[in-house]
Amino acid sequence: PEAITVQELANRMAERTSDLVKTLFKMGTPVTATQTIDQDTAELLVTEFGHIIKRVSDSDVEIGVGGEADVDTDLQPRPPVVTIMGHVDHGKTSLLDALRGTDVVAGEAGGITQHIGAYQVTLKSGAKISFLDTPGHEAFTEMRARGATITDIVVIVVAGDDGLMPQTIEAINHTKAAGVPMIVAINKMDKPGSDANKIRTALLQHDVQVEAMGGEVQDVEVSALKKTGLDELTDKILLQAELLELRANPDRMAEATVVEAKLDKGKGPLATVLVRRGTLRTGDIFVVGTESGKVRALVNDKGQQVKEAGPSVPVEVLGLTGVPMAGDNLAVVENEARAREVALYRQQVATAKRTTSAPASLESMFSAIS
Ligand code: GTP
Ligand code: MG
Repeated sequence: PEAITVQELANRMAERTSDLVKTLFKMGTPVTATQTIDQDTAELLVTEFGHIIKRVSDSDVEIGVGGEADVDTDLQPRPPVVTIMGHVDHGKTSLLDALRGTDVVAGEAGGITQHIGAYQVTLKSGAKISFLDTPGHEAFTEMRARGATITDIVVIVVAGDDGLMPQTIEAINHTKAAGVPMIVAINKMDKPGSDANKIRTALLQHDVQVEAMGGEVQDVEVSALKKTGLDELTDKILLQAELLELRANPDRMAEATVVEAKLDKGKGPLATVLVRRGTLRTGDIFVVGTESGKVRALVNDKGQQVKEAGPSVPVEVLGLTGVPMAGDNLAVVENEARAREVALYRQQVATAKRTTSAPASLESMFSAIS
């Protein structure tokens, strides 16, 4: 069997070498980037990263689905994925509602978002924008952090009558850490106590310079309640999206990210996913986290069954073996045997991780080495 260096494998997988080294360490194989690992270890590692191995010959391991980079000419423009973040009660859901032209708040228990919702809006111009709504509570900090990574643009909602609050600042920091451009929506401008300039000044203390303050961050005054400033907000989102030149290949087996998942009494395990590349279709066989499945039905954000979902489209997937976690990667694979194999392997890894506790200082150890 052929051996491969960690670095070479990382390149083929389009993953960071340091991430591979870290994972190998957790798997009990401490090696450096330039050392070689055998085929079995390489295969385990590849699977662990959610990539699928395509065996060209017995001695050759090639990364297939999940790892292949797209050829430039296959890439087509895709809608931006926008996450709405901000402090509790600053109006994230109301703003999304206003943008959708429907009323989700009325349907929510106590007006508090229970789950991350994902919606796509089509504007008068025909342009599309996908939105993610994140719950506003401290406990969802991590989920919000994950949210930022599948997001192209973050809209930070700040209530103009309240100012920057802990979760506003947290959202700003997550956004910066993820390297995602932000747009500040100063909400509740219909309220007499709202003061947009006070917000703009306060933002300076957190190194966010809006255009009016000589910076480059776009801001917009809105009222989710009175539905004002919405066109300006979507214009600014699209302007920002244009600069990002967002593209994806729709003609490949789909890869998607789970934004929420639950067990429905009638329908079984359900996952709302956002397609990152490729096109997800009914009948597709997939792996998602430690689960697998076959797409029994796809339901869009309007509750309608659809046959397929392309890049940036949020869609609910039926036909999973179990409930995955938010943030899990869904990847379509060639056949059910492969799906079961990968899911089983991941379950074993997950079990192993639970039973062998890694040294507490693992992270710091690695930052010292690299
Ligand atoms: P969580 O999901 O709980 O974090 O809250 P949220 O940020 O989604 O806020 P939500 O949209 O639920 O709004 C909170 C409250 O502010 C509700 O009572 C809304 O009616 C009110 N609200 C939201 N936007 C506006 C606005 O533009 N003007 C006024 N006056 N009230 C607003
Ligand atoms: Mg909400």
